[in-house]
Amino acid sequence: MKEWYDKINNAESVASLEEIRIALFGKKGILAAEFAKMKDVPNEQKAQFAKDLNAHKQNLMNEFTAKKIVLETEALKEAMKAEAIDVSMFSTSSSAGALHPVMETMDRIVEYFSSMNFAVKTGQIVEDDFHNFEALNLPKYHPARDMQDTFYFKDEMLLRTHTSPVQIRTMLESKPPIRMIAPGAVFRRDYDLTHTPMFHQIEGLLVDEEGKVSFANLKFILEDFLKYMFGDVDVRFRPSFFPFTEPSAEVDISCVFCKGEGCRVCSHTGWLEVLGCGIVDPNVFEAVKYENVSGYAFGLGVERFAMLIHHIGDLRSLFEGDIKLLEQFQ
Ligand code: PHE
Repeated sequence: MKEWYDKINNAESVASLEEIRIALFGKKGILAAEFAKMKDVPNEQKAQFAKDLNAHKQNLMNEFTAKKIVLETEALKEAMKAEAIDVSMFSTSSSAGALHPVMETMDRIVEYFSSMNFAVKTGQIVEDDFHNFEALNLPKYHPARDMQDTFYFKDEMLLRTHTSPVQIRTMLESKPPIRMIAPGAVFRRDYDLTHTPMFHQIEGLLVDEEGKVSFANLKFILEDFLKYMFGDVDVRFRPSFFPFTEPSAEVDISCVFCKGEGCRVCSHTGWLEVLGCGIVDPNVFEAVKYENVSGYAFGLGVERFAMLIHHIGDLRSLFEGDIKLLEQFQ
């Protein structure tokens, strides 16, 4: 029996200890064979024989259990060591994505007008002549249509050239009062340093009872908005023309982006045009069958804002997917 105590104590792994257990305590094991010898032991010695054997069995069991705990603990330690993660080790670099500067700028603009209780409308990108032109007081053959080179589909449908058709859709589906903005992609056949065939606009429209909405209201909110976007800039309203507003204005901000000679952002006048706006033309209200109302509308190009905020010189670079440019906006 002595050798089995040594075997248990010298076992090197949980697996070899298991082999010992089967050989020793198994049905056909050593102990079972020893107990089988009982029948050949003379009667008067049987009691002592059984007592000794049971004592051995118990001791071997205790030995076995103790050794098993030791080996299992060691195995667990080994496994933990092998699977451990060294958090202080250098890892291969990974890079997180970021919002595109145009989307980030759009979010900021939407945030401002949302805080002023303007609802966000999206409209649709594929439009028809009525919503994109006709209802906006741009009848067929009107010379103002030349301002916007349009992508036409075969069947009178077109890619919207501005977000203004969302004004029409919103007025047709709801009753005044209305306070909405419409951010989204628009399309024009144009491509140079400051024009891409697809770009983004944000439209604004406010409609209330007749006499309630004035140019002063429009001026106030746009000035407040531009200071929110650009900080302490001067804002000026310059008379202009849009078929869907009367009177109309273009809005300039003072050039705070660079000073004096060699400034590539601002013109020699020191002013920068940033949006178009005006009082909604009565013909537009007539097209959507609104009566006894007044309103203002405005529209701006999101890329232009993003370029000014981030000092980007070439509009086209925003759409080239150049990782070197985009990584700067993480
Ligand atoms: N739709 C005009 C444009 O694309 C912008 C505008 C919108 C002007 C609303 C006045 C009022 O240039």
